[in-house]
Amino acid sequence: MTEVTYEVQPGGSLSGVLRVPGDKSISHRAVMFGSLAEGTSEVRGFLSGEDCLCTMQAFRDMGVQIERVSETQLRVHGVGLHGLKPPPGPLDLGNSGTSMRLMAGLMSAQPFATTLVGDASLSKRPMRRITEPLKSMGARIEAAGNGTPPLRISPCGGLRGISYKSPVASAQVKSGILLAGLYADGRTEVTEPEASRDHTERMLQAFGVTVEAVPGMAALRGGQALKASDVEVPADISSAAFFLVGASILPGCELTLTAVGVNPTRTGVIDVLRLMGADIELCNPRMFGGEPVADLRVRGGQLRGIEIDHKLVAAAIDEFPAIFIAAACASGETLVTGAEELRVKETDRIQAMSDGLNALGVAVTPLPDGARIVGGGIAGGTVDSRGDHRIAMSFAIAALRASAPITVLDCANVNTSFPGFAALAKSAGLGIGVRTG
Ligand code: S3P
Repeated sequence: MTEVTYEVQPGGSLSGVLRVPGDKSISHRAVMFGSLAEGTSEVRGFLSGEDCLCTMQAFRDMGVQIERVSETQLRVHGVGLHGLKPPPGPLDLGNSGTSMRLMAGLMSAQPFATTLVGDASLSKRPMRRITEPLKSMGARIEAAGNGTPPLRISPCGGLRGISYKSPVASAQVKSGILLAGLYADGRTEVTEPEASRDHTERMLQAFGVTVEAVPGMAALRGGQALKASDVEVPADISSAAFFLVGASILPGCELTLTAVGVNPTRTGVIDVLRLMGADIELCNPRMFGGEPVADLRVRGGQLRGIEIDHKLVAAAIDEFPAIFIAAACASGETLVTGAEELRVKETDRIQAMSDGLNALGVAVTPLPDGARIVGGGIAGGTVDSRGDHRIAMSFAIAALRASAPITVLDCANVNTSFPGFAALAKSAGLGIGVRTG
């Protein structure tokens, strides 16, 4: 892969009206459910990031015709629950944990064998959290010795529904089990310690499936067909988060982000920033299918450090790298706990953010399940994103309040979730340059 480095000048500003790309979680599910449905589904606002393109390619490899009408529009010709064909080789899911864990459930129910593989980062991520419950449904699925990919899945001759109490709040685990449950005998139920994002439940309902869903529990009966449904994908709040933080830490700045998904299982970053004193307004609320959407108006100011309540962690899980930057710019100390899941994302995000911020002169103490961050100022320097898209974008935004340039290494994977990030940020006023090769 070509090396990509961000060189970001200190200062700069953010202003204007921006639309960030489509939601990654919803784009994955639109391809998956559209493929499994009876009939043709149009997907608008699709995220053409590498993760979702891996999901699209996997379904094409299994015989689904998916037309790329434009960069952000797909026409998915569904093959029905039982219409997938054996792929010619292993399905390569790149950097995408969502593709791997959801498809582990789906592929366990197919009458053909598959192998799911990923890149170096995905190949280190824990898969027992999904393979164990699937095995208890009767799946024949093997991970590598330490429970990591590749996953080798064989036909099992029929799954049975389970009632599963998940030890982690994980939408990927919940969704993988529910997808297997669509093919299982009887009812499949998943309960979680905190409510994880519920896009699967909402979109399955839009595709005509009866789902029981309350915060922290989801269940469905096997054997229900999916009926094609058009999907309008909101802008991704996880991508918007870099601009929410960037604008919030700059006194005097004003920025609007349009058509952002504000599903309550995803808006933890807004809650956290508001508790730190940020001025974020939700304007023009509306629905895109089953998903709430709003325009977010942000005005910058001086933030203050807080203790982040455990209850906010699940709904802000992907936004912690950006929240760490907000904390570094706040007055006083911020304490993050109850966020041990950050250690098993695309990289160990607690360590990557702590090391990066320390390199920029910010006093951060990593904790097993979070960090203590002393706010104040950010110096310049060089940080390693470790190939993690969200770490790379967070440190780019940090330059807005830095006293000297910030160089961010290993940024190619920003394309997994936010193609065009540097250009959009530059158009809004960030002094970002991109060096390749
Ligand atoms: C996702 C769920 C979350 C999140 C990931 C996308 C999804 O992971 O971190 O970026 O689309 O279901 P977990 O479910 O493992 O927390």
